[in-house]
Formats: sequence, C-alpha cells, structure tokens
Amino acid sequence: MKPVRKVVIPVAGWGTRSLPASKNIPKEMLPIYNKPVIQYVVEEAQRSGAEDVIFVTNKEKSVIEDHFDYNLQLERVLERAGKVEQLKAVREAAEMVNVMSVRQKQQLGLGHAVLCARKLVGDEPFAIMVGDDVLFGAVPGIRQLIDVAIAENMPVIGVMEVPQEKVSRYGIIDGEEINPGVYRINNMVEKPKQEDAPSRMAIIGRYVLTPDIFDYLDKVKPGVGGEIQLTDALQAMAKDRGMLAVRIYGARFDAGDWAEYLTANIYFGLQDEKLRSDLITHLKKYVNFE
Ligand code: G1P
Repeated sequence: MKPVRKVVIPVAGWGTRSLPASKNIPKEMLPIYNKPVIQYVVEEAQRSGAEDVIFVTNKEKSVIEDHFDYNLQLERVLERAGKVEQLKAVREAAEMVNVMSVRQKQQLGLGHAVLCARKLVGDEPFAIMVGDDVLFGAVPGIRQLIDVAIAENMPVIGVMEVPQEKVSRYGIIDGEEINPGVYRINNMVEKPKQEDAPSRMAIIGRYVLTPDIFDYLDKVKPGVGGEIQLTDALQAMAKDRGMLAVRIYGARFDAGDWAEYLTANIYFGLQDEKLRSDLITHLKKYVNFE
C-alpha cells in the first residue's frame, strides 16, 4: 500500500448530543481544555504523517476551516502585545496541515459523507477519522492502523472493546485474532441489539481504506436509521477482498458523551504542568476522593 497522505474528517453532523452547547457552535469547535475538539483530531492526523485533511462539511461549519487558517488581525495584536506563546499557538493551528473541504449537502449518513470526498481523495489510499472520537497515546491512533495497513497491504479499521450494554451504539465486528491485537474480519454489524452483537469489539472512528470503498458506497442501500452506513459498505468490501481490524491502544473519549467529554477536559488539563496542581485543588473541593 502506498503512503497514506489524505485524511477525510466528516464534520457535517448536527451534534444533537451536545445541545444546547452546539446550537450555534459546531460541536467540533467545543473546547477540550484549551483547544477545540477538532484540533486534537487534526493533530493526530499530522503526527501520523498526513499532509492533507479533507473536511466533509456543511454551510454552518466554515469556522472549522477558519481555525486551521491564519488570523492575521489577531496575530498582529498578539505580536504588538508581545504575547509570544499565544501567537505561536494560534499560528501552529494554521500551519498544521493543508485543508480541503467539500460540502455534504444532505445528511444521509456517515457512508454518504465519505462518498462526498471521492473526488478529493482520488485514486490513493486514505484514512477516515470521525471527529467525535478523541484518541491520545504514545503512538497516534490512526498511525497504529496505517502501520498495519502498509505491512499487510490491506484495509484496516480501528476497534476497541466496549461494555456489553454499549454495543448497540457502535459498529461491531466478528473477527479472528491472527496476531496480537490484529483481527481478520469475518463480519460486521452496525448498531446491533445487545443480543445480536457478534462480540464486544466496537469500531472506533478510525479507518485506513483503499479507494475501491467508493464503489461499495455507491451501491450500498440505506441501513440502520435509514442512513447510508459506512459499516455496510465495509462489510461488502471485507467479503470480497478481506479486511483487518486493529485494536487501538491509548485513551479514547467520545466527545459527544458528556461524561467522557468532561473527563477529557480534566485529562488534558492534568497534563499541563502549569494547571495540574490548581486543577487538583479545585476538584478536591467537589469530589470525595477515597
Ligand atoms: C459511527 C459508525 C460506527 C462507529 C462509530 C464510532 O457511528 O457508523 O460504526 O462505531 O461511528 O464512533 P455514529 O457514532 O456516527 O453513529
């Protein structure tokens, strides 16, 4: 497999789980500590060697592209005030990756969103990163998949084990472990009922695919929830040409789940030495630690 240079990030969803916070601010722009959710995802892409990020967006979300562009007026103000660190931080976001975007004019599902990026992806392997899933670890999540995809010359999807009562929120795979943490996929089901789930291995929003996925997406019929499901197209592709799943290591937060979103804020806050001790002092006032 050729190197993976392009990453598709679908960001056109309404973000109903994050209301009312996301009423007029895209859910991807809500902060986790001092950066918007989407910046963590783009940083993971950059740390994994991606050069181009393709946002699948809608008309309410241009502020996402703006975040990864220069804000010359603000930079001038910071420069004049000698705020070197802040200046560096705002410039950094503009210099992270090359940004492209395409509109998803109707919200017909994740599979449909990915299909909108077909022309921009062209004829090369690419990654998909779902903006709600924030991953953090020594090796960036999508990099873990790219390494296996290149070594095995196969499409790869990311999975993590979830509790039984949460399986119906995810795509669930049935796979056979061929190497530690690497599975050959036999089957996958989008949002199964608890009793129908083939395992507890859930698809996390990270995929490394070859462009033939677009032919499958073109043909796939609406699935669960009446949406064009990426999982259904992946299942058809896996049957024809084989596909691997890789268990992703590291911390994962679903930014659309309030408990996980708030935990992510604390997790990243605690990693900042300047904030850590104050943060712990405040938390201690409100939580009875054992
Ligand atoms: C999507 C995918 C699902 C996957 C999930 C991970 O679902 O369809 O297979 O498990 O992302 O976040 P969504 O969360 O968009 O409903």
